[in-house]
Amino acid sequence: MDLLPVPPIEVLRERRSAKWRVHPADVLPLPVAEMDFDLAPPVQEALRAAVERSDTGYPAPVPALAEALATFAARRWSWEIDPGAVTAVADVGVGVVELLRVLTRPGDPVVICPPVYPPFFGWVPEAGGRVVEVPLVDGRLDLAGLERAFAGHPAAFVLCNPHNPVGRAHTRDELTALVGLAAAYGVPIVSDEIHAPLVLPGATFTPILTVPGAAAVAVSLVSASKAWNLAGLKCATIVTASTRMATVVGRLPVDTPWRVGHFGVLAGVAAFTDGGEWLDRLLATLDDRRALLGRLLADKLPMVTWTPPEATFLAWLDCSAIGTGAGPRDLFFDKGRVALEPGPRFGAAGSGYVRMNVGTSAEILEAAVERMAAAAV
Ligand SMILES: Cc1ncc(COP(=O)(O)O)c(C=O)c1O
Repeated sequence: MDLLPVPPIEVLRERRSAKWRVHPADVLPLPVAEMDFDLAPPVQEALRAAVERSDTGYPAPVPALAEALATFAARRWSWEIDPGAVTAVADVGVGVVELLRVLTRPGDPVVICPPVYPPFFGWVPEAGGRVVEVPLVDGRLDLAGLERAFAGHPAAFVLCNPHNPVGRAHTRDELTALVGLAAAYGVPIVSDEIHAPLVLPGATFTPILTVPGAAAVAVSLVSASKAWNLAGLKCATIVTASTRMATVVGRLPVDTPWRVGHFGVLAGVAAFTDGGEWLDRLLATLDDRRALLGRLLADKLPMVTWTPPEATFLAWLDCSAIGTGAGPRDLFFDKGRVALEPGPRFGAAGSGYVRMNVGTSAEILEAAVERMAAAAV
C-alpha cells in the first residue's frame, strides 16, 4: 500500500495550528496530537465545496453525521449504532465534561487510570467531581484496583479506549470484566473512544458498547477528529445504547448541538463515508513510523525503552535511564530542540517519560531521534 506523503517542513511551518505555532522555528514539534499528513481528499473536497458555497453557518439538525458514523462503525468494527442514539457535541472534552456534570454532584469521586491524556485531570473538577486515580499496571487496566475504587461508589469512571498515552487497545476480556464491575457497583462508564479508528495492524478495537451488559452502564464518545486530523473543526459524538444512558444524555444543555462546528460535521460525514481508503493508508503509514521509531531508538537511543503502541500515533517513551535532573522533556527541548509532551502531565506514573507524536514523515522522525540522541550524551 502507498504510504501517505508529508509536506516539506517549510510547508508544515506555514500551518497556523498549535503544533506549528507554539514553538520557535528551530524546534521540531512532536508534542500535541495533530498529524502532519495532508487531509484526506474526500475531507478536502467537502470543506472546499462548503467554502465555495459560503456555507459557514450553524450545523443543521440533520441525521447525516449519525448515519455516516453508524455505517462506518458497522463496517469497521461490526458495531451496530442506532443513529437516533447519537448526539453531536463540540468535541470529546465538552462531551465528557457535560456528561460528568449530569452524573456528578459536587465533590463526588470520578475514577481515571493514569498515565492518561492530561485533560482528564481537569475535566473531572471542571464538572464538580474529584479525581480518584487507579493507575494502569504494565499498561493495562488494574481490574482489582478498579474494583476497590468502584466499591467506594464513584459517580463515574472515565475510560480511555484505546488508551492515550500508552497506545493500548483494551481487550474484549478486559472490557467485559470492567463492565461486570461497573454493573455490580452501579458505576457509569464514560468511554473516550476518540482514537478508535487509529488501531494499528496487529490489534483490534473493541467498542465498549459491543460488550454484553455495557449498554446499561456505558456511553461512548467517538469522533473523526484524531484519525482525520480535524480537531480544529469541533465535532464529536456521544453514542448510547440504552434508554437509561439516553436519559443521561437527554439532560445535557439544550444548546449542546448548536455549539458543534458546522465544518466539523461536514468533514466528519466525508471522513466516515468516503475516508476509509485514506484511513487504511494512514494506518499503514503509522505502522511504518512505529517500526522506524523502534529501529531508530535501538540504534541511537538504546537507553530509551518503550512498548510500541497498538493504537494512536503516539509513543510513550521511558527515558528514566537517561537520569536527567530536569526531566527528559526539558533536556530534549533545551539541548536537542525537539518538543515532546512531558510525561508528568499524564500523572505521577509519567515521571521519566515523554510522549512523542509519530504522525509525521520518516525524515522528521529521524531528525528528531538524532537530535534527542545528541542531547542525551
Ligand atoms: C484520549 C483523548 N481524548 C480527547 C482528546 C481531545 O479531543 P477533543 O479535541 O475532541 O476534545 C484527545 C486529543 O488528543 C485525546 O487523546
